[in-house]
Amino acid sequence: MRLKDKTALITGAGAGIGYACAELFCEEGARVVIAELDIETGAAAAARLCERGFDCRFVQTDVSSPDSVKAAVDAIMQAHGRIDVLYNNAGGSSLQDGRVTETPFEEFWKKLQIDLHGVWAGCHYAIPHMIANGGGAVINATSVLAIMGTEGRDAYTAAKGGIISLTRSMAVEYARHGIRVNAVAPGVTTTERVRKRLEQANPGASKTAQRSLLGTVEPREIGYAVLFLASDEARKITGQTLIVDSGLTIS
Ligand SMILES: NC(=O)c1ccc[n+]([C@@H]2O[C@H](COP(=O)([O-])OP(=O)(O)OC[C@H]3O[C@@H](n4cnc5c(N)ncnc54)[C@H](O)[C@@H]3O)[C@@H](O)[C@H]2O)c1
Repeated sequence: MRLKDKTALITGAGAGIGYACAELFCEEGARVVIAELDIETGAAAAARLCERGFDCRFVQTDVSSPDSVKAAVDAIMQAHGRIDVLYNNAGGSSLQDGRVTETPFEEFWKKLQIDLHGVWAGCHYAIPHMIANGGGAVINATSVLAIMGTEGRDAYTAAKGGIISLTRSMAVEYARHGIRVNAVAPGVTTTERVRKRLEQANPGASKTAQRSLLGTVEPREIGYAVLFLASDEARKITGQTLIVDSGLTIS
């Protein structure tokens, strides 16, 4: 029960890594709010966890909209009166992304609006409540692709690189309020979305997956890292990016 009596807001938690984290957080005693864009996915995810007796609710949220993120933060405050953990998870690379010289500007802004803006908005609205409560833990989803130097994902890597820098600066700014800010950088993680890409033999995805020395990563295996950073065991860790990539970046 490493998150006993804690409340957690997880964006994009209807599926993939976010859902795996929501499940793990519930199992570890947290009350979880799933902030998810897709109504069906989000409602079904929360229902599955409620059926197991966990305290979990769904709030439809679009992390690219400040008002929507504010409403999600208001919802967790109304339900539980506090927010202890914020996992800014929503995002992901897209097949429309590519080289900076060829990728449309719309794709660039889209990536920034979901991945980077999502983190910014979550922190903008949640951190004041954490300050009022005397502390909290923020975890932001970045990617090994922002660290490695990667072909064909320039909008995504720009957004994810920004998340690493923002994580560090927020860690410095909010340490005095007892708030820790860290990032998790997954390698190739077999969510439904990534599994499909691998099945379709997407050359970029397959090439990267082959370099995962210990095999591709399961969503729950990212969850363990997020759980650690969210828990008091990581009480002296802030401003860091924890790579969970099955050895990809060293291969
Ligand atoms: N899966 C990987 O291999 C991998 C690798 C590196 C980093 N990541 C990062 O981990 C995070 C989760 O990735 P995933 O593979 O689990 O993704 P996923 O596509 O499996 O799940 C993402 C969830 O976010 C929701 N979502 C999408 N846009 C949203 C929005 N605007 N507002 C709220 N919710 C939204 C989707 O509906 C979906 O349920 C992302 O930030 C991604 O960039 C994933």
